[in-house]
Amino acid sequence: MTAQANTTASPLAPEWLSVPDDLNVLHEPLWAGGVQRNDQGEIAVAGLPVSALKEQFGTPLFVLDEADFRSRARSFKDAFDAAFADICGGVDVYYAGKSFLCTAVVKWVEEEGLRLDTASGGELAVAARAGIAGDRVALHGNNKSDAEITRALDMGLGRIVVDSLAELVRVGAIAQARGEQAKVMLRLTPGVHAHTHEFIATAHEDQKFGLSMAADTTEQAGLSAAEEAVAAAAAHPGIDLLGLHCHIGSQIFEPDGFAVAAEKLLRFLAAMQEKYGIMMPELDLGGGYGIAYTAVDTPRPPAEIAAAMAAVVRSTCAELGITAPRISIEPGRAIVGSTTFTLYEVGTLKTVRVDAPAGTDAGNVTYPRRYVSVDGGMSDNARPVLYDADYSAVLAGRTSAAAPELSRVVGKHCESGDIVVRDVYLPGDVAAGDLLAVPGTGAYCWALSSNYNYLARPGVVAVRDGSARLIVRGETEEDLLNRDMGA
Ligand code: LLP
Repeated sequence: MTAQANTTASPLAPEWLSVPDDLNVLHEPLWAGGVQRNDQGEIAVAGLPVSALKEQFGTPLFVLDEADFRSRARSFKDAFDAAFADICGGVDVYYAGKSFLCTAVVKWVEEEGLRLDTASGGELAVAARAGIAGDRVALHGNNKSDAEITRALDMGLGRIVVDSLAELVRVGAIAQARGEQAKVMLRLTPGVHAHTHEFIATAHEDQKFGLSMAADTTEQAGLSAAEEAVAAAAAHPGIDLLGLHCHIGSQIFEPDGFAVAAEKLLRFLAAMQEKYGIMMPELDLGGGYGIAYTAVDTPRPPAEIAAAMAAVVRSTCAELGITAPRISIEPGRAIVGSTTFTLYEVGTLKTVRVDAPAGTDAGNVTYPRRYVSVDGGMSDNARPVLYDADYSAVLAGRTSAAAPELSRVVGKHCESGDIVVRDVYLPGDVAAGDLLAVPGTGAYCWALSSNYNYLARPGVVAVRDGSARLIVRGETEEDLLNRDMGA
């Protein structure tokens, strides 16, 4: 085999990955608004350079730009309010806390005029500690415990999103026994599944969430599980039926899927109104708005998505002759995802030589792939392992004029699948001790983090106006050991 020298475009790279003209340039859509390279060539957030962050807090570290979080939250609220003003007087935006939640975030969400979507008793506990008013909080989950339902009622939750008929009966009974009515939305599965650029519409649902809208999904011929639940909810003395909910997927770029789901739910809402005289004043269209993880991702601005969704709600309500329900949405990733990057320190480097992929090369030629190990990995970002998610990375502590080398950023776990960034061009002179930043790690990274191999989960710092504060401290070895009960 002949060893081929580094060329800029590696045949080992996936087709979508191009060699950046300048490896030092930050591709804007991937980064928080306050992130730039400073005059020394270091990445800085709201004026604070990464070397200072490393010195103060160590690595790995989640670095969140607070002003950017607030501005993304506000821009969803403003864009949807504007698009729906004439339809239903505005939109209630519930930040999906599962993407990243701590008390500081709850406070920002509240201050920016949003509400909070939770999915467990633990997330409700964070909401309670942050002191947000219960009527601005929603609770989800396909398997809520009685304790979680009771907690929701204790907190006076604005809505419990009920996932099944059995749960509806349980929520109703618990509320009735307290002499109350639970405020309930019913989660329906409209048969629309969206992923990034495409959506598919199917008649039947094969998933754990929600009540099917397809006919014949109950014991009674022709009756859908959704209709059965609406009738049961309206008749239950312990239930105040507010409306309907759907969530069609995550990391979606095109608005078509949202529009199809909205239309389907509106038609169903009108049918329930006509058949049973049941009025449902609210409709939640879920979250799922995509963000950029690599240079080829092209998310739509909130205003564009809002306009597409408003158009279909407006025309469908007009056609059906119904008053438009109050619309709500539940974005998580699109608010927090790009606010944060993970700061790592580079450790071991190695270069392997790999055969060119079949069909791309005639000769017996191998190409280099550089493995760049960092001091975290799948324990602070499980998304590449779980979903084959792609990320980007840049040298953060300095600039470099070295030639690009196809690199794979990997963690320090005892697993060969422990990949942080599968394919990225990094400068050839990246060395141990360098700082590396991986953008777009605000959503479902800290939230999905683990202690695999007894690694301590990193802290999260919020940077604002040149100063940083921990909003979640990193774990210590003591934290790791204190649940071990001993022999
Ligand atoms: N509403 C409901 C009912 C949801 O189930 C979800 C996400 C959201 C809102 C927020 O979706 P977002 O706007 O953040 O896409 N761990 C996966 C994503 C799981 C999403 C679960 N549900 C990932 O890292 O891609």
